[in-house]
Amino acid sequence: MKKLFVLIITICLTHSVSSGQDPTGSQPSGESAQIKQSADIIIPAGTKNTDLIYRVNGKDGRLYQAYFGAKLGNTDELKQMRDAGHPAYATFGTDNLFEPSIRMTHNDGNPSLELKYISHKIEKPDPDITITNILLKDPVYPVEVTLHIKSYSEEDVIEQWVEIVQNETKPVTIYNYASSMLHFDATQYWLTQFHGDWAEEMKVQENELTSGIKILDTKLGTRAHMYQTPVFFLSLNGKSTENDGELIAGTLGWSGNFQFVFEVDEKGSLRVISGINPFASEYSLLPGKPFKTPSFIFTYSNQGKGRASRNLHHWATNFGIMDGNKPRLTLLNNWETTYFSFNEPKLAGLLDDTKKMGLDLFLLDDGWFGNKYPRNNDRAGLGDWQENKTKLPDGLGYLVKEADSKGVKFGIWIEPEMVNPKSELYENHPDWILKLPNRPENYYRNQLVLDLTNPEVQEFVYNVVDGMLTKYPGIAFIKWDCNRMMTNAYSVYLKDKQSHLYIDYVNNLYDILYKLRQKYPHFPIMLCSGGGGRVDYGALRYFTEFWASDDTDPLERVYIQWGYSFFFPSFAVCNHITSWGKQSLKFKTDVAMMGKMGYDIPVNELTEKELKFSQEAITNYKRLSDVIWHGDLYRLISPYEENRAVLMYINSSKTKAVLFAYTLNSRFGENFNRVRLQGLDPAKTYKIQEINVSAEGQRFGPSESGRSYTGDYLMKIGLNAGTGLPLSSAVYEITSF
Ligand code: DGJ
Repeated sequence: MKKLFVLIITICLTHSVSSGQDPTGSQPSGESAQIKQSADIIIPAGTKNTDLIYRVNGKDGRLYQAYFGAKLGNTDELKQMRDAGHPAYATFGTDNLFEPSIRMTHNDGNPSLELKYISHKIEKPDPDITITNILLKDPVYPVEVTLHIKSYSEEDVIEQWVEIVQNETKPVTIYNYASSMLHFDATQYWLTQFHGDWAEEMKVQENELTSGIKILDTKLGTRAHMYQTPVFFLSLNGKSTENDGELIAGTLGWSGNFQFVFEVDEKGSLRVISGINPFASEYSLLPGKPFKTPSFIFTYSNQGKGRASRNLHHWATNFGIMDGNKPRLTLLNNWETTYFSFNEPKLAGLLDDTKKMGLDLFLLDDGWFGNKYPRNNDRAGLGDWQENKTKLPDGLGYLVKEADSKGVKFGIWIEPEMVNPKSELYENHPDWILKLPNRPENYYRNQLVLDLTNPEVQEFVYNVVDGMLTKYPGIAFIKWDCNRMMTNAYSVYLKDKQSHLYIDYVNNLYDILYKLRQKYPHFPIMLCSGGGGRVDYGALRYFTEFWASDDTDPLERVYIQWGYSFFFPSFAVCNHITSWGKQSLKFKTDVAMMGKMGYDIPVNELTEKELKFSQEAITNYKRLSDVIWHGDLYRLISPYEENRAVLMYINSSKTKAVLFAYTLNSRFGENFNRVRLQGLDPAKTYKIQEINVSAEGQRFGPSESGRSYTGDYLMKIGLNAGTGLPLSSAVYEITSF
């Protein structure tokens, strides 16, 4: 992740104000009060190809969104519009007739908020980044709201968040506290959402929005994105395709309950409100203590979804994901091979297998801990992070050393936020656990959630990681799991502030991760939540990658990975080759290779040919991974539209590309059309080489392998990517010369 540099430019414009009365009895802020009429102010906050423009209406002193869309030639023309626009951050209680961004009750019981523009300040922490901070205040109550708009010019991505501060004499309650409010005026709005469940993440659904409200949200607390990932496309004036159409891609960087509200009003205008889900989460705000919302991250494209994805991928690589520009480790995981049943000799064998395959790291999954209550299944031991003496008599140190002597790295699974009732942790600290008084405990995967609002628990969770890495500095990787959502949740620590739980939990989790990152800035950590139950850019600031799904059947994975590819770059999406599915090893390998490839198969059961195939595939992957991870993605044929899926990655100099073609199904005699490639240099000549030739030595690839074509030909005429055989696949390395 790029570091932010010092502030370079600060501009501060102050709108004229005069002081007024504060009914709460606190010190009048001097600035807050009635606004004098003055000229409109235009505040641009766009990127290279996008303009997001705010306008202060001199008549009422309020802030409006005047424009959002493709770059304008002359923003001054906006001043000629009679209408100032739509409210930039609509409040509740005065004259707003629709869903508000913010709602609060003051400590005198007044349930309204009015926000007037005070000033704005522009920061330039990096030549690519501009942060526009717009300060709004209530003219009567000492409440300040600052809208932050961070524009990443080259990436065409904008991040918005809000800070709320109140200076009344007592706490006030906030009921709504959105990160962002955006408005659109189009003839149609098509919403694409990504919902699912365990082992069926990121299913794509697209529907037209009609009058009224559509909400996408989650209320699960932890494992919060199990049914709904916090991402969407909103296409304007009709459906968008991969290469055509106007849309925004939006996502909330928040690992807990989120909410996106889409409200089409009586005039056909749409407001999109994004933020933490306010459900059961009214928040008592202490005087002087800022409330900071998570970031809503979005990009505008008038060249379809493909462009929007590439914008987000560039942003995630440079800013959004921990060490996005750095390489990832290939690995062998033992979860599906052994489950809970292993011992030192078995693991030593897996370390040998890691080496034999040519992988970087062995990842020891669940089941290595617990003594009084050994973790031999998912019913016991969670929370007791000491090596199980029967399975690992020589401790993790032995495995770290063994790995080192074999020339591979060693990584480990943890689930530090959770506890089995059958554990010493549960026995010793019943008050550290989220559970309702006077109600039976409610289990999911036989476990409960620890109370991260409690500082002692935060310390415990920090020490699970820090203690292990201090004792065994040779550990090179962590998989951080989180297998359940919150139910029957009650925090002993929060006492009468139970409605703070969902928010404080996530913020405290981030504090722990932040603290860990201070000490271990570049340590690779995989984000996992019973598959893809927690996938968002709030968490990915601290994680290097995520486990996309427990469903590793490669046919299913084509769809799941396709879904993630819209919002997340391939280097972050962990795909393992496992025993799920009856497809060939080649098909499994080719599917896993389109992201961050790993293995979870019994290597000792591979035939000689399969082993050789896998070793060669890993060598190919290592040679090409930089293109796959950091190249531009072009989704060429969607599995939602045809019985196949084809996509390609190409590096920025357009000299190397990798194309993946998967035939999923085919009818008798079905003829697949040629696939036109994208993103190549038309003037360059490219050699097509099929790689990952199957374990049986059979080539499923096109007749074009070994031939050369111009980029012009490949983009206008195309390739016969793959064959008509169901569940066959082909990977082509495309090199300019
Ligand atoms: C759920 C994860 O998604 C799996 O990969 C595995 O780590 C298990 N948890 C272990 O309990």
